[in-house]
Parts: sequence; C-alpha cells; structure tokens
Amino acid sequence: MSRAPVDRQSRLEEFARRPNEQEANQRGLITDLESAAIEAHVLKALNLTPELRVLEAGCGTGLLASAIAGRVAHVVAGDIAFGFCQRARDKLEGRPGASICQSDARCLPFADNVFDRVLLYSVVLYLNEREFKAALGEFRRILRPTGWAFVGDVCNPYRYYHLCRSIRGLGRAASAAEWLKYVLRVSTYYVLSASPGHGWYTPGYFRRLAESAGFEAEILSQEPDMPYQVWRYDAVLWPVS
Ligand SMILES: C[S@@+](CC[C@H](N)C(=O)[O-])C[C@H]1O[C@@H](n2cnc3c(N)ncnc32)[C@H](O)[C@@H]1O
Repeated sequence: MSRAPVDRQSRLEEFARRPNEQEANQRGLITDLESAAIEAHVLKALNLTPELRVLEAGCGTGLLASAIAGRVAHVVAGDIAFGFCQRARDKLEGRPGASICQSDARCLPFADNVFDRVLLYSVVLYLNEREFKAALGEFRRILRPTGWAFVGDVCNPYRYYHLCRSIRGLGRAASAAEWLKYVLRVSTYYVLSASPGHGWYTPGYFRRLAESAGFEAEILSQEPDMPYQVWRYDAVLWPVS
C-alpha cells in the first residue's frame, strides 16, 4: 500500500478521538444552531419515508445517521475509520432499524440495488477525483433504480473554510511554535486548493463526473434561511438507466 492512504487513515482516526463533536466531524467553525440547520437541510433533501433503506457513507460521529434512524425502515451508518464507527455506534446502538458498518465508500460491501437513498455529506473533500468516481460508481450499483443519492458539503473548492480556520488560529496563536503551525497550515491549504480533484468541482465538471457514473446531477441552490455562511454545494444524483 502506498504511504498517502495510511497517513490519511491515521489522520481520520485522530479526528475521531476529538471530544468536541463538530471538531471531530471537521466542522470546527460551526455552532450547534448551524449544525441543526445542516441536519434539517439534509433531512429535507432526502425526503425520507418509513419504508426506505438508507446508507450514509462517511457518517463521522453519526450525527446525521442518528437523525435519519427512526424515520426509515433501516439506516446503515458507514465510515472508513474505526474510531468514527465507534462514535456512531455510541449513538445508534440499540436503536431499531440502525446498523454500523466500517466501510470504504470506494468499495462498498453491499449487494446491488439494495438502498433507496445514499447520503455522502462532507466527505468529497477526502476523495481525489479517481476515488470520488469510484464512490459514485458504487452508489449507482447499490441504489435501486427508484432511489437517489444526495451529495453535499459545507466547503468550497478553494477551501476558504479551512483557510479561515487557520487564519483565525493564527490570530490566537500564543507561541512562536503555534504561529508557525498556522502559517504552515495556511500555506498547505493554499497549495492544496490549486490541486484539481481535491475538494469540490465546478458544477459543470461535477455533472460530468456524475454522468460518467450513470447519474444525472441536479445541483440544489443555496437556501437563504440556512445560517451557515460558507459556500455550499449540494446535489441530488438520479440514476440513469
Ligand atoms: C467531515 S466528516 C463528515 C461526517 C458526516 N457525514 C457529517 O456530515 O456529519 C467526513 C467523514 O468521512 C469519512 N471518510 C473519509 N473517506 C472515506 C471513505 N473513503 N469511505 C468512507 N468514509 C470516509 C471520514 O472518516 C469522516 O468520518
């Protein structure tokens, strides 16, 4: 195995150990109110009904999966990181119609045509273009023809979100070492933002990626009532036969 994925995995496990839930989910800037608004927005977009089977790929601490549980016949909370599966388990264990599955969105351990909804929220930035395509291909495979995927995020392609965090940290840094850490972080994000395939895609390019996996993408417009100020980019992916 190459070095990069191993580093990424341990970084994810490190996030999973963070006590602050929003920080563990790498939404360090947002308030509980904003988090609740994201949840409401996602639930609305999924249009859940009691007979559905839902997969959340990349469930993190299980915030969204636990909001979905109880509204549908079955929700599977999947995450590549063991630590995140544990945190999701803490929320979902014992709840009827909910299970946890440590799984990689790029290669899912489910049969064809078994889910009515697949949710991928705030995960695209972890996948390079090839990996994102692989995940979309998997979603197409496991979705029933009448189902759909919802892919969303709270980040923008130029990573202003992370940049803002680092810049804020820079102002707060108490020591030279801390300050240097934030300077390095800002420069890293600046370099990463120039790397195609990481973070988000332009709407046109995103549509083409979805098409190549057998979906038609409907890009959802931003809702003014959502208090989260950072640029968002949400899409419903309809399977095309
Ligand atoms: C920012 S968190 C989002 C958590 C959750 N979806 C939410 O919005 O609250 C991203 C999650 O994606 C997971 N992840 C990253 N790459 C993944 C992959 N290839 N397959 C499954 N999960 C992945 C990470 O472990 C992390 O828990």
